[in-house]
Amino acid sequence: MPGTCVIGLQWGDEAKGKLVDLLTPGVEIVVRYQGGANAGHTVVTGDEVYKLHHLPSGILHAGVTNIVSTGVVINPPTILEEIDGLQARGIPVEERLLISDRAHVVFPWHIAEDRVLNTRLVRGESIGTTLRGIGPCYRDKVGRSLAIRLGDMLRDDFPDRLREVLAAKLQILGSLNGELDPDELDAEKMVQEYCGHARRLESYLADTTAYLLDAVEADKKILYEGAQGSLLDIDHGTFPFVTSSNSSGVGIPAGAGVPPRWITRVLGVIKSYSTRVGGGPFPTEQENEVGDRIRELGKEYGTTTGRPRRCGWLDTVAVRYAARLGGVNALSVMMLDVLSQLPEIKICIGYELNGERIGHFPSHADDLRSLTPIYETMEGWEQDVTGARSMDDLPAGALRYLERVSELVGCPVEVVSVGPDREQTIFVSGSPLAVSS
Ligand code: IMP
Repeated sequence: MPGTCVIGLQWGDEAKGKLVDLLTPGVEIVVRYQGGANAGHTVVTGDEVYKLHHLPSGILHAGVTNIVSTGVVINPPTILEEIDGLQARGIPVEERLLISDRAHVVFPWHIAEDRVLNTRLVRGESIGTTLRGIGPCYRDKVGRSLAIRLGDMLRDDFPDRLREVLAAKLQILGSLNGELDPDELDAEKMVQEYCGHARRLESYLADTTAYLLDAVEADKKILYEGAQGSLLDIDHGTFPFVTSSNSSGVGIPAGAGVPPRWITRVLGVIKSYSTRVGGGPFPTEQENEVGDRIRELGKEYGTTTGRPRRCGWLDTVAVRYAARLGGVNALSVMMLDVLSQLPEIKICIGYELNGERIGHFPSHADDLRSLTPIYETMEGWEQDVTGARSMDDLPAGALRYLERVSELVGCPVEVVSVGPDREQTIFVSGSPLAVSS
């Protein structure tokens, strides 16, 4: 039962794409199971940099089937642009990709709605979405009456369905007093464009649920690639400052259609510090020169939106919570090289809330905002680690840091990344993939 998943244990951007790309040669199928074009996964191979939004990071490898499964929301022009961009660089995407016909479609009205609602404050702050229409599309999926799935776009009644939904959406958007671009929401123009997109996407569409169920029963090796991070999970994250899907490990069975018993190994990915983009509580945020330094050293600017990321110390209370939630077996610690330049490193080991020390991750955003993190301070190692290829190459201070993180989170560290390239990776004891039964 070789099913491995890679999930982020923070607020996204943990460099999961690099890890998935590295593990892909050991699997037959890679699956993206939630989120949409809000994700930005960067894969670096030599001089080439690939930025992926919808497509699984395994797409760069020959002989691997990449699946965008039912739980993902798809923006047709964006995914087509991504496919075209890769094909222009010589990647035969047409041989490697399947997209679920059950996946829901992001339309221009979702993006318009995201723009209008993102200006509203929730608990005094904007959610700061990526403005990709993700939340409105998932809202329609749950609401059902105004939803359109990819498979619907190939039906004869699609033009009428699109006109009908658009008319309802214009009424709703009108009542929200948002500024609408009439050209962007013109029914006949949209019918033409989206029928064209449907024709181009048709050859990729498949019943990926059936495909994956056959694959697990045939004992195929599968890698599930989480997008965003566990603390952005709609049910278990820092609500309402979250994304609209289950971005923790709990999203895999629902999003891929694969029962949990086929998921045998969970790799939790963290940065050696913390970042967050958009609004919401961030207990260990450093709005000072430490945060600025981390941002510059780690080039912490959003892949999808280019926004500067908020930066701070590693929060092991939050990561431990996410690791337990995801049933994580092992940790992958990314961007260790960024800490090399800091003389002193802090780790958050607990919280104080209303004068009391607590060990759990509070469920309410206001509590997360008002708590005080408790830190342990370690001496930095101040040595370049970008050339390290085994644990023996790491300075004693870096090893101490990794040991402490493992102890506080309660998981062994199996992968350490010391730079963006594929080779700048240490596998502590061989491949961390699930072993075939
Ligand atoms: P949405 O997913 O666009 O609705 O955005 C909701 C929240 O999730 C915002 O704070 C975004 O900045 C954050 N978010 C969404 N996708 C990502 C991601 O891939 N990395 C980091 N943050 C993300």
